[in-house]
Amino acid sequence: MRISKLLSTSALVTGLALFSGAAAAEESVEVLHWWTSGGEAAALNVLKEDLEQAGVTWQDMPVAGGGGEQAMTALRARVTSGNPPTAVQMLGFDILDWAKQGVVADLNALAAKEGWEKVVPPALQAFSKHDGKWLAAPVNVHSTNWVWANKKIFDELGLKQPTSWDELIAALDKIKGAGYVAVAHGGQPWQEATIFDAVVVATGGPEFYKKAFIDLDPAALNSDTMVQAFDRMTTLRSYVDDNFSGRDWNLASAMVIEGKAGVQFMGDWAKGEFLNAGQKPGEDFLCFRFPGTQGTVTFNSDQFVMFTVGDDRRAAQEKLASAIMTPSFQVAFNKIKGSVPARTDADGSGLDACGQQGMKELAEASTKGTLFGSMAHGHAAPAAVKLATYDVITAHFNGEMDSQTAAQELANAVEGAK
Ligand code: BGC
Repeated sequence: MRISKLLSTSALVTGLALFSGAAAAEESVEVLHWWTSGGEAAALNVLKEDLEQAGVTWQDMPVAGGGGEQAMTALRARVTSGNPPTAVQMLGFDILDWAKQGVVADLNALAAKEGWEKVVPPALQAFSKHDGKWLAAPVNVHSTNWVWANKKIFDELGLKQPTSWDELIAALDKIKGAGYVAVAHGGQPWQEATIFDAVVVATGGPEFYKKAFIDLDPAALNSDTMVQAFDRMTTLRSYVDDNFSGRDWNLASAMVIEGKAGVQFMGDWAKGEFLNAGQKPGEDFLCFRFPGTQGTVTFNSDQFVMFTVGDDRRAAQEKLASAIMTPSFQVAFNKIKGSVPARTDADGSGLDACGQQGMKELAEASTKGTLFGSMAHGHAAPAAVKLATYDVITAHFNGEMDSQTAAQELANAVEGAK
């Protein structure tokens, strides 16, 4: 009798423990992302820590691969098997594609309660919302048309920051002539496309970029200006080292950080690598706009798309969305990530010189109408068009076709993918 009483009490205790264990497990989020480099992981830690402080456990689902192509493949498998993660890092048109599939959460109540509408710029809202419903929380604004340079090499060779194509080439010649790798590059399609974003603006100007990559105008895609842009890619190819093929972007950043290479053409996530290595802007490295693109900003914004999850996981999901949208978090995160806050009311005065420049130029470009979504990072056209564009850029970069053919192929490929 006593024993059975004991048993039933202990069963009750176990039951309670299980129950509270289950309740604790509900407060967890599974997050799919591609932030696996040193700088990226350091930035993501800010979010993990904030959530853990709010009592939410972080289940990490990292899928390496800059630009996120591999992460998107992993996501498709998860959604197809009926088991999407709580939240997924995503870019531009990919967000809208998933929104149309009807598998994403509705964040309207939270967005209204926290007043997101008033503080997220319209260029980002275009991707955070679909059919009047918020489905994603934007964490930052990156831009792709930057150059990251080793200051010691620039000083040693008496180089100034180039502001035109000719000055850039003169600088690269000097760096190469001094025995350094002039351009640190990773031969992956998305990295070549990232450089192409800048080269196309530098060659044809902002209006041309828009016509080609946003309006997808066949005449712009297959034009003499585009041929010239491809020729410039061939020129840049002559400044990379022999081992560029397949190299990850952060390893290319490391070449500049370690003083083996002069410059890297890359989005401002590269700054995260320099900072993570203990380097300081203006002292150890320089940041400046890709020569000839001053005044134009090609942007991308990482957003966390919230997928439809069971009611038991909704509260934790909303805590995640709310944490991402907190102004102080946005500042702390973006200082490390290299990007700038996605909220117009976040105080950017504590950002470093590159961050300040980025914020100022973003605002100016937005006012002037020279702020455009990045082709390379999914903010100019849907994934099918983006990937078709990548293929042509990379085939040309690797010498598989001349510039004339590349421009024709580009127009054909985009037309086929539209
Ligand atoms: C993302 C960045 C990321 C970079 C390299 C870009 O598409 O927007 O957040 O750091 O890819 O992985």
